[in-house]
Amino acid sequence: MSYLEESKIKYENLRTKKDVVILSIESSCDETAIAIVKNGRQVLSNIVSSQIDIHKLYGGVVPEIASRNHIKNISDVLKEALQAADMTFADIDAIAVTYGAGLMGALLVGVNFAKTLAYALNLPLIAVSHVHGHIGANYISYEELEPPFLCLMVSGGHTAIIDVKDYCDFNLIGSTVDDSVGECFDKVARVLGLPYPGGPAIDRLAKVGKNIVKFNYKTPLKDTFNFSFSGLKTAVVNYVHNKEQKDEAFSKEDIACTFQEIVTDELSEKAVKACKSLGHKKLVIAGGVGANARLREKISDACEKNGVKAFMPVLKYCTDNAAMIGSIAYYYVKVGIGFADLTLTAKPTVGI
Ligand code: KG4
Ligand code: ZN
Repeated sequence: MSYLEESKIKYENLRTKKDVVILSIESSCDETAIAIVKNGRQVLSNIVSSQIDIHKLYGGVVPEIASRNHIKNISDVLKEALQAADMTFADIDAIAVTYGAGLMGALLVGVNFAKTLAYALNLPLIAVSHVHGHIGANYISYEELEPPFLCLMVSGGHTAIIDVKDYCDFNLIGSTVDDSVGECFDKVARVLGLPYPGGPAIDRLAKVGKNIVKFNYKTPLKDTFNFSFSGLKTAVVNYVHNKEQKDEAFSKEDIACTFQEIVTDELSEKAVKACKSLGHKKLVIAGGVGANARLREKISDACEKNGVKAFMPVLKYCTDNAAMIGSIAYYYVKVGIGFADLTLTAKPTVGI
């Protein structure tokens, strides 16, 4: 039997298998990550090799450097993931990998590594969308969480409100028409001279901001579930440049705080409004910006006031990791999607 025939049969058998152990790979940006996840919920190991210290030197992720470092790190990350779970390849039922969205070169490292492993071990290969993975981060954070729910997706690549009707049934309700919220955090941080990644730096600095700064800005798209962040980014950049040109003092803390208040107000208000409009009683946060302390606080408060239960992944599962990929891959298998052959390639953009 060919690899393709055998892996397809094995994949189909997993639908009814009692315990499914998935080795998952994530390399869409600057984290080289491999995890082993049982039945979509139990994280047996979760190794993340971060390249932040390297990209910090350039003020942002340099795609070519990210790809090269994935190549350098990925074999060691695999060894560590197996060791931490106290497992060998014989314990693994399938290989899952993020095939998009993300940086093309970075994704290709993970995809080719996954294909090689799947072929060499004669295991099924599952192609996972990174955005779906971020939603999966909640299943490993909350044992009891089940769809349907509303998801507020806030990452470096995406900003969206998604109606999650079932584990693998997603309906886009609204999304950004320009920059993602993570991108906006990173760009504002950059103009303030804060280190990469900007989100956590703004989060820290905003805590000591006291006064509201008057940017030349009005929140757009108020009556829709879409977002636009490029105007806010430009307003902050213009404010800072103006002050610098006039040699006037400005408070980075106040700027960070005001910016963060505007963004988190908009995200929390629209998410809760969408819950009410669609009749959802559960709001799930996903993506790196979900680690933002002020956003978490506002979402909790707004949900409590409106009779909605808030779910937010533990911080290590907000930002990129492979455990979230292994979690959602399990549900892909259970509904029969994601099976990939060896022609699988990376995709820089993938729809919801
Ligand atoms: O989900 P993620 O790790 O990667 C993508 O899929 O893009 O998100 C990365 C983004 C970056 O823009 C980073 O600055 C932002 O998440 N981020 C935060 C915080 N931690 C990470 N933004 C605001 N506050 C944070 N605490
Ligand atoms: Zn991500």
